Amino acid sequence: MRLDVVTIFPDYLRVLDLSLIGKAAGTGLIDLVVHDLRDWTHDRHRTVDDTPLGGGAGMVMRPDVWGEALDTVLDLPADPTAAREAVTARRGTGTRQVLVVPTPAGELFTQRTAEDLAHADQVVFACGRYEGIDARVPEHYRELGVEVRELSIGDYVLNGGEAAALVIIEAVARLRPGVLGNPGSVVEESHSEAGLLEYPVHTRPVAWRGHDLAVTWPGLLSGDHPRIARERREQAIARTVARRPDMVARLEAQRLGAGDRAA
Ligand code: ADE
Repeated sequence: MRLDVVTIFPDYLRVLDLSLIGKAAGTGLIDLVVHDLRDWTHDRHRTVDDTPLGGGAGMVMRPDVWGEALDTVLDLPADPTAAREAVTARRGTGTRQVLVVPTPAGELFTQRTAEDLAHADQVVFACGRYEGIDARVPEHYRELGVEVRELSIGDYVLNGGEAAALVIIEAVARLRPGVLGNPGSVVEESHSEAGLLEYPVHTRPVAWRGHDLAVTWPGLLSGDHPRIARERREQAIARTVARRPDMVARLEAQRLGAGDRAA
């Protein structure tokens, strides 16, 4: 899988070198390339932004600079007709390119999104700063037939798309075969198919600072695996009810839907 990040702060992505993802990049499992957006500017000041048309606070990132950068990274000609043909031809060969634009105004990034992106051949991240990227940029690539996802990692505002790109890259890359040491870790964790939060986990010592698992959770030490699985599920449900009523509502809606189909 090829990952490209276009940013005015290439150093921001350096932390990836320290992680499992950096190791995967070293082994060829993931090919990660970080690009400096300013490489596509043509003026002495390497300008990437301008004031918002219509007024308002802050600065907006220029579409012409982004267009040249993304054409290069997506390997598309600048001429829209030729670009559309290239995109169609690539799709025909089954090659999947996705342009991800992190933005607080995007659709919510979830584990489902991560699973979907993990199937792509190339994911290009366009990291905006300031008030964001001129809206014609995602619109243009969508018109060319490129799969464009404007994604928010949560209902809060960051200073730019870089931290969001890091989050998305980590969530996606760990789903690729060979990136994680133990593929089982991907299956059981929170937000996987069951739609419940993960149950609480424990290790030795059994008794610690007055918290004795032999007292509070004897099933765990029983060696009775069906019982352990049952109790873990109960804990997962209790946690989900207490912490994530929105997930419970979703599960209930799904169950009602399944009931309707069965009827
Ligand atoms: N850029 C700024 N805030 C963001 C958010 N919450 N998600 C994705 N990109 C962002």
